[in-house]
Amino acid sequence: MTINTSRKSGAAACVILAVITAAGCIIDDEAGVSYDPDVTRIISSSCYPCHLSAAASGGIILDTYDGVRKAVESTALVRAVNHNTGYSPMPQGAGKLAQTDIDTIQTWIKNGSFETDPIDGVFIQPFGSCQGLEPGDGLASQDELVCTNVAISGSTEEGRLFMDYGSCDVVLTQRPYWNKAPFGRIDPDDPRLGDQAFVTELEWINSQVRASGCVCCHDTAGSGRRAAVWDISAAGVWTDQLSDQGVAILSGKVSSGILGTFTAGANNGFSRDSTGFPTTDVERVQAFFNNELVRRGVTDADIDAMEEFGYFIVDIIEQQPGECAANEGVLADGKIYWDTEPARYIYVKEAGSDNPGVPPSNDNPEGVLWRLDVLPTVEGLSPGIDYGAVPGGTYQVTPDNATAPPPLVSGEQYHLYVLRDILVPVCNCIFTAP
Ligand code: HEC
Ligand code: HEC
Repeated sequence: MTINTSRKSGAAACVILAVITAAGCIIDDEAGVSYDPDVTRIISSSCYPCHLSAAASGGIILDTYDGVRKAVESTALVRAVNHNTGYSPMPQGAGKLAQTDIDTIQTWIKNGSFETDPIDGVFIQPFGSCQGLEPGDGLASQDELVCTNVAISGSTEEGRLFMDYGSCDVVLTQRPYWNKAPFGRIDPDDPRLGDQAFVTELEWINSQVRASGCVCCHDTAGSGRRAAVWDISAAGVWTDQLSDQGVAILSGKVSSGILGTFTAGANNGFSRDSTGFPTTDVERVQAFFNNELVRRGVTDADIDAMEEFGYFIVDIIEQQPGECAANEGVLADGKIYWDTEPARYIYVKEAGSDNPGVPPSNDNPEGVLWRLDVLPTVEGLSPGIDYGAVPGGTYQVTPDNATAPPPLVSGEQYHLYVLRDILVPVCNCIFTAP
């Protein structure tokens, strides 16, 4: 997979910029924006020496890639340089950065926050991306940024389009896509199309889906990609394409929580806690799809009889650890070993704690003592790394940045869970600390 660096949005942002500020556009559409030298040039000239590792103001480190990435993911960096309310305006004590520089940073973030292409097929973790309004976005600007979780279950602001503020290249790394045929046909003469109240609801449903990562695979017109099963831009009542189980999932009667959800507060008011796609109005979505279940004659008993959704994920995360083999776990040299395969995620956890599932909500179960992730741009780690070390190309998720994990107590049991990628564990075993 290649992150698309010939960005439509970058070009569009330049156009609006040229109009509004008459500033020259420094984004080279063909070459794209990369961390080094584009982003590092701006940061080194405007943010040093206040944010060097040695003396990181506000705990924000901007002289390492990992540090910048962290500040980007929390959205603090973009909000600070845009002088958003609630954030300390940066650079401190100096004027605002040139809009072209801000645009460069935002473009770099939107396209995946990575200085080089990610490794093919690797899951890219959800991240926050903030930018100014896209041209053609009809909704008024509140002079602040539009911030969007770039993820399947991520949403931009209500009424806006995920396609404008997120990246399907990233979303497509997060689950398999194929152009699966619909379960049912759409009737072009469906009488419901003459019912204005119904049509209004359907259009509202579509606008909710268009605000979220689901559009990447379920909206042919929006994403330019043939839809899988259901296509919200299909003419007529597209819900006829769904299986009964599909309707039950979208209504929330069959839970798909196993795929993870953001809280509404962290996702522009959208959550999929109780529905299939993220929504700002749970009852309205449930009412719409529950009506469809009734119309189809699908009863609660039918729903109870449906296969549990995502059963293979349940199997993976419920897999009990065995005892580590002699060459696995933290060995006498203090290093962590697992079987031969390279790893992208390493968890050392309390014995008895749950296995991690998928982000954004299920990959940090309680009891994790240390979690190390590998950036999507570099190959996985080979066995034999120090507990608590953060080698180049990796970043520590638990505990928080800069904090060392608690020392392992000799003779105590711990759980080592190592993944080749999300949902692909290569080691799941209990070891005794040396
Ligand atoms: C003259 C010193 C100085 C410069 C230059 C500077 N900063 Fe800061 N920055 C600080 C200090 C001090 C804090 C912590 C106190 C605060 O939040 O006001 C801070 C805090 C921050 C924060 C956290 C803001 C928040 O509200 O959470 C971010 C993000 C940040 N800086 C980014 C940057 C970036 C990006 C640049 C360059 C474009 C930059 N800073 C330049 C001194 C500086
Ligand atoms: C990367 C592509 C992709 C994204 C993004 C995606 N899906 Fe899908 N979806 C598929 C594919 C492929 C299928 C068909 C195969 C399957 O069921 O796994 C599918 C099937 C479904 C079905 C079953 C339909 C039926 O009638 O049985 C539902 C429901 C669904 N998706 C909901 C969602 C929701 C809600 C989102 C956003 C939170 C979403 N999908 C995002 C690829 C995607």
